Amino acid sequence: MAEFYHEPVMLSEVLEWIQPRAGGVYCDGTLGGGGHSGEILRMAGPEAVLYGIDRDESAIAAASERLGGHPGFHAIHGNFHDAKALLGALGAPALDGALLDLGVSSPQLDQAERGFSYHEDAPLDMRMDRSRGRTAAELLNTMDEAELTGIIRDYGEEKWAARIAKMICEHRTVKPLETTMDLVAAVDAAIPKAVRMKADGHPARRTFQAVRIAVNDELDPLDQALRDLTDMLKPGGRICVITFHSLEDRRVKRCFQQMRNPCICPPKAPVCTCGRKPVVRILGGGAVAPGEEEISRNPRARSAKLRIAEKL
Ligand SMILES: C[S@@+](CC[C@H](N)C(=O)[O-])C[C@H]1O[C@@H](n2cnc3c(N)ncnc32)[C@H](O)[C@@H]1O
Repeated sequence: MAEFYHEPVMLSEVLEWIQPRAGGVYCDGTLGGGGHSGEILRMAGPEAVLYGIDRDESAIAAASERLGGHPGFHAIHGNFHDAKALLGALGAPALDGALLDLGVSSPQLDQAERGFSYHEDAPLDMRMDRSRGRTAAELLNTMDEAELTGIIRDYGEEKWAARIAKMICEHRTVKPLETTMDLVAAVDAAIPKAVRMKADGHPARRTFQAVRIAVNDELDPLDQALRDLTDMLKPGGRICVITFHSLEDRRVKRCFQQMRNPCICPPKAPVCTCGRKPVVRILGGGAVAPGEEEISRNPRARSAKLRIAEKL
């Protein structure tokens, strides 16, 4: 099997907040190479149970090879948006902890043929789950200009979105976009050279992020997935979520706040009449950031934020 190496981000912080306990039951919704899961299982011992979900079959294979010797490890190829159904089908009991370490893994970014990288020429795929769904090329060659503008603007927070979408549509009237470099060329043609020269990072970074989010439908189902995982926790169980960009982090923050205070009574109402009770308390004082030492060792940790909620 090809080597699969992903250094787990904020590992010590995750362990500190999840507090793996002997015989505990855990769900890692973004199993990856099993870095976080392996430590959780090691700390929770041979009686522990961990359900590891990943939509990428190569991650499932790598984590199974690494953790398959633990009797309580269950690898599940699927989407954590379906965690309730997936764990329900296995008769999983209530959870002591749940983890989401969102986004892509190092191997997904580093293996050029996955099509996530704007540094390497490769087919425009970008699917985390290569067994289903539309590739980036299919999406870019079929969406109309207004939809493309919306995606690049909303998921990439790219102010040149309209020009980039126009350039993609012009490109494909001559020849469909097929490779990552076709997309880079469209972005380059859309953003004035002076702006590109001054760009913070690669000029195509925001567009690639946007297309990746759209291809993998990363944002819209997140809220319900957080609620489902929280619902599956025991009282006192904790959910930890690591995000890597503000679009994700804002959603996690808002969802946790709504679960902490779900009351929908008018602010001036003297007493609560909606009957909605808090579901969680928020731990860690908001977003926890990685330490300087980790950031200098692992640049991918730079934009990480960890949020933690405890089921009441
Ligand atoms: C940042 S990596 C996780 C790395 C892992 N924590 C480790 O220590 O090795 C994110 C993983 O989550 C997976 N993933 C992202 N979104 C997913 C989803 N909605 N459902 C299941 N897996 C997902 C990706 O395929 C990737 O393998």
